Amino acid sequence: MRNYKYILSIETSCDDTAVAVLKDKSILSNVIYSQSAHKLYQGVVPELAARDHQKKILPTINHALELAKIKINQVHAIAYTVGPGLIGSLLVGSSVAKSLALSLKIPLIEVHHMQAHLLVHFIKGVHQKEPTFPFLGITISGGHTQIAIIKDVFTFQEIGTTLDDAIGECFDKCGTLMGLDYPSGHLIDQLSQNGNADRFQFPIPFTPEFNLSYSGLKTAFKNFVLQRVSEDKNFIENNKVDLCASIQRVIIEHLIQKIKRAVDKTGLRQMVFGGGVSCNRFLYEQCKNLSELGEYTLYFPPKQFTTDNAAMIGIAGYFKLQNGQIGNLNTTPKPKLELAHS
Ligand code: KG4
Ligand code: ZN
Repeated sequence: MRNYKYILSIETSCDDTAVAVLKDKSILSNVIYSQSAHKLYQGVVPELAARDHQKKILPTINHALELAKIKINQVHAIAYTVGPGLIGSLLVGSSVAKSLALSLKIPLIEVHHMQAHLLVHFIKGVHQKEPTFPFLGITISGGHTQIAIIKDVFTFQEIGTTLDDAIGECFDKCGTLMGLDYPSGHLIDQLSQNGNADRFQFPIPFTPEFNLSYSGLKTAFKNFVLQRVSEDKNFIENNKVDLCASIQRVIIEHLIQKIKRAVDKTGLRQMVFGGGVSCNRFLYEQCKNLSELGEYTLYFPPKQFTTDNAAMIGIAGYFKLQNGQIGNLNTTPKPKLELAHS
């Protein structure tokens, strides 16, 4: 009798149509179709995203099955992102997931997008030694900035979040102001390599406890740049690498301050990262040098698992299936979803 499970997972919370096939905790395929229409608008246009998901979801499922070398009727369960995310985008993935589960008569599993970002660390082969519970989870992306205590696979306690803009949004808005393509986080990261991070000074946001704030910093950067452009129209072009390095330093320093505080106050010494911003090189370098914290362990996901993907939904689905947490055909996707939901 077979004792492994094939899980087909679907992620459509924002602008990536992603489908993966897992065999228990191992990835058989992981396909991502990233929408490009949004570049023109320097941000995700929800209506366009939903329409594009609708076009791509079935071909992406077929492609993932082909790469995994299995047929749809061999799948044991369907996992999908139930939230948080854009409602139109979530509806496409959830409708397809429900239809498949219903027609194949197999379990449907609801997955929280932000929990999944951290559970990638448990995919087979990602780390030689997995994080052990409890640990600090730091989820940093275009839509979220969260610090949480991860007590077990199903229990996430948020202790800090952004009070306004997400960290990735700050990267993207500052990048757009400098004329960089959207999303700009990786471009700022690259350009900063050749820049002087101390050349321009911006105030590190001041926020209570483990919370963060990026809206004021974004505005300070914008006001500074526009003022200097009014004096010299070539200011951005002539100073781009230093501007990138300087704003990146402050964005990351603000986060690092909060992480240090969280380590200090919780006593947890494993820092586990997830989300698109977690591949930032300056963040990595800074985290490696927190000598004042004594001994600690860092877990950064491999680059392909930092941004949105369906393998992370599959691994979360695997744990839920193991635990008998089966979803419901009547559940509607949730654009806003507390981290505690599991
Ligand atoms: O997790 P993700 O793919 O999507 C969301 O759920 O938001 O994260 C995308 C975000 C974007 O804001 C992008 O600019 C940022 O991650 N990002 C980076 C880097 N690579 C992607 N930010 C800073 N440095 C990077 N290397
Ligand atoms: Zn995400």
